[in-house]
Amino acid sequence: MDSIHIYGGNLLRGETRIQGSKNAVLPILAATLLIKGSCVIKNCPRIADVYHMQNLLQGLGCPVSWAGNTITVNTAQANDNRMSGESVTRMRSSVMLLGAMLGRMGEAVMSYPGGCVIGKRPIDIHLTALRKMGVEIVEEDQMFTAHAPRLQGAEVKLPFPSVGATENVILAAVLAEGTTILENAAKEPEIVALCEFLTEAGADMEGIGSGRLVIRGVEGLHEVKYTVPADRIVAGTYMAAAMAAGGSIFLEQAPADQLGAVLEAAEKMGCCVTINKEGIGIDVLRRLKALPYLKTEVYDGFPTDLQSPMMVVMALAEGQGILEENIFENRFRVVGDLGKMGADIEIVKNKAYIKGVETLTGTVVEAEELRGGAALAVAGMAAVGRTVIKNRHFIERGYENICRDLRELGADISIG
Ligand code: UD1
Repeated sequence: MDSIHIYGGNLLRGETRIQGSKNAVLPILAATLLIKGSCVIKNCPRIADVYHMQNLLQGLGCPVSWAGNTITVNTAQANDNRMSGESVTRMRSSVMLLGAMLGRMGEAVMSYPGGCVIGKRPIDIHLTALRKMGVEIVEEDQMFTAHAPRLQGAEVKLPFPSVGATENVILAAVLAEGTTILENAAKEPEIVALCEFLTEAGADMEGIGSGRLVIRGVEGLHEVKYTVPADRIVAGTYMAAAMAAGGSIFLEQAPADQLGAVLEAAEKMGCCVTINKEGIGIDVLRRLKALPYLKTEVYDGFPTDLQSPMMVVMALAEGQGILEENIFENRFRVVGDLGKMGADIEIVKNKAYIKGVETLTGTVVEAEELRGGAALAVAGMAAVGRTVIKNRHFIERGYENICRDLRELGADISIG
């Protein structure tokens, strides 16, 4: 139980539709709290992290209902300002509710958030930025209380363009008194999605998609219907599957405009990429060539969330390459299991030195976190023989039905 079984080593062929974006919908669900009424969010992925966010919203007094992939959140009667327990500590993005709760209720009491075991992941940048907006924060043990009866617009410059901190400042600023100027904001597409959602609900902002956001506080927001964009990381994971296993696949809805750095790497390695308005096609007709050097960066650089799947691709490419991780300090946990499958990877500080091997061999491996777990599925599809991935639940935090999707791409994969 809680595992995935793959019989790998076959070329992939087929097409699948890319689910809605996890990292876009989570802050959007938090943002519904700023709107006193019902919001309808379409193309919402049915994944564990969304269910956690649903639990948190319900705990705050907001009924949530589903119809297919449409989720409706009614925040009219939100009445609690305390958030604690497993849903907070298990999911990093629960911290998104902080800015939204301050905007709605003026106070939030919460446990420190959790998430993947990929690094320290502090929230100091969030708290410093919110303090600038008049929030008083009292920290004690594993809990903290944030209090701001009147949120004030402010000039905030982030020391690093943190995705989560940018989202929290936006959420706090839309209903604040006055104007917030946010410098060195993160520019990830998921932030653009949050800004689009809020603008459709009546927020007043400028500079969407840039590193400088100007947010003028408004009196109130109104109910809105919104469709979540496709998940660029899921699309990139499935691209990596084709790059590792070979074959020809088509990813319906894959957002090519958000995957520039990934598509560039794929083409340099020898993939044939076709882009049309329906999605992205990838043809991998021969063994790929190693990339001498690739590093993860903030958007629009190569995304850290695709570093582990890309490591599998490089492990099978012809030649040697270096993969450098610059966003999270502990994101090479999958290397041990890839080594068990026959990969030749050495880690020195934040760099993986990868010597391409001709084949990987299936064995029993264990997911330890979301994207590393997805990388093991990619490796399993390329590997000869049977791969069993334990701890499937980590993968289900972000992939709605990875087995269904990969079966549509021709893989022999099932849950066990
Ligand atoms: C979000 C994404 C995650 C992605 C990451 C980077 C969600 C739910 N998660 O995570 O999938 O990998 O962006 O693209 O959207 N940091 C601090 N102090 C802070 C905040 C962050 O030191 O207060 C550090 C982190 O430890 C990390 C780096 O900054 O090393 C990047 O973090 P951040 O951009 O905030 O990522 P998340 O919002 O956690």
